[in-house]
Amino acid sequence: MNNIKAYIAQNKERLINELIELLKIPSISADMAYKDDVIKTSKVIKIALEKAGCNKVEICETPGYPIVYGEKIIDPKLPTILVYGHYDVQPADPLELWDSSPFEPIIKKTELHPEGAIFARGACDDKGQMYMHVKAFEFMTSTNQLPCNVKFIIEGEEEVGSNSLVWYVKRNQEKLANDVILISDTGMISNSQPSITTGLRGLSYVEVEVTGPNRDLHSGLYGGAVANPINILTKMIASLHNKDNHITIPGFYDKVEDLTAKERAEMAKAPFSLDEYKKALDIDAVYGEKGYTTNERNSIRPTLDVNGIWGGYTGEGAKTVIASKAFAKISMRLVPNQDWEEITVLFTKHFKSLAPKGITVKVTPHHGGQGYVTPTDNIGYKAANKAYTETFGIPAIPQRSGGSIPIVALFEQELKSKTILMGFGLDSDAIHSPNEHFGIFNYLKGIETIPLFYKYYTEMSK
Ligand code: BES
Ligand code: MN
Ligand code: MN
Repeated sequence: MNNIKAYIAQNKERLINELIELLKIPSISADMAYKDDVIKTSKVIKIALEKAGCNKVEICETPGYPIVYGEKIIDPKLPTILVYGHYDVQPADPLELWDSSPFEPIIKKTELHPEGAIFARGACDDKGQMYMHVKAFEFMTSTNQLPCNVKFIIEGEEEVGSNSLVWYVKRNQEKLANDVILISDTGMISNSQPSITTGLRGLSYVEVEVTGPNRDLHSGLYGGAVANPINILTKMIASLHNKDNHITIPGFYDKVEDLTAKERAEMAKAPFSLDEYKKALDIDAVYGEKGYTTNERNSIRPTLDVNGIWGGYTGEGAKTVIASKAFAKISMRLVPNQDWEEITVLFTKHFKSLAPKGITVKVTPHHGGQGYVTPTDNIGYKAANKAYTETFGIPAIPQRSGGSIPIVALFEQELKSKTILMGFGLDSDAIHSPNEHFGIFNYLKGIETIPLFYKYYTEMSK
């Protein structure tokens, strides 16, 4: 692409400031208190797509938050790239752990981001990464270098399960027809070693409620004589892993595909330092399923984690009480071939079977989605790799990620096309955590690399 570097250099300040403005809107999809801000963000995205050169942009109403659709079709004979991103963000709490306010973006240097990083909720996940695509597109249209057709689909419910997008995609297959889907909502190994995400894990997220006696009881008068829901819940949860940290739910691993020794050896080649990993988290040992490395545990293996647990008295001081109920939120990260609805049924059946007499168990599924693996022998992967090689000076490494973007498997099912996951974030960018940030280097590198994907994909399609 001609002059992309010069374009970025000339427009650097504006590119950063526009993202900062976008990050100021607290588009938290999980919390209805921010409803107006989520809707406002969809309108800001619409204007940004129009300004960047789309010739049609719509706000599509759904049962939930609006989806922003934009397109520029230059020639129906040319390939069409569908770009997906999300404009909603995670809640910012715990607020007291942020060094600056989550919706008042500031730029600070860090060890890994010597050129500075923008600190704000959504900086990396996914406003910053989504906006790279809008700006890369702006570069191509304004310099007459757009080589193919583009469609954008930017949703506002990714962080709460993408229900409205599922609804929308099922009704708009033709409108969304494309040759390849391009997403930047994942990470890469480091700023000197790009990687392309070739797999995402599936997810089953459930809430459990364990009920014992019909009311809270005096722990002296009743303690020891009735099942204490919190004691029982923790015992039930503890039994979900055995001593080797395998998950004990019958049938849980039935469909898990084991990687070959060769595939595992290939994976192990990716640069990774266990010492640095531990140091970054301030832990003196890692923990996990026996027989697998840290990188395998967090990508190709399924897991089960309690995300929250509550019940009884948690206020100040002591209250002697046996609670009537105890609760937990549990997520299971799944690997390709494991069906999330099937796993939810297996979990429910097993979890209920663990309860002793005197205890009732309710399991409520929240949301879920299938995992995804993408081949590396297609032109989408090759074009992405060629683009990274050019801008980073070194080829990208394929890497399976532990995170989930459930809409990717649905896109494949409904639109019959593959997704290329070109992520530019780092694991240390603290997505979903306090002090989320996105490197200026990463943001600008994304804007530089994306047009090359367009170029090489179009060339390779001929
Ligand atoms: N962008 C993330 C997923 C991600 C991050 C994948 C980094 C790979 C690397 C996405 O916004 C997300 O947070 N997904 C949720 C699932 C969703 C159903 C709430 C997740 O993975 O917990
Ligand atoms: Mn995301
Ligand atoms: Mn997220």
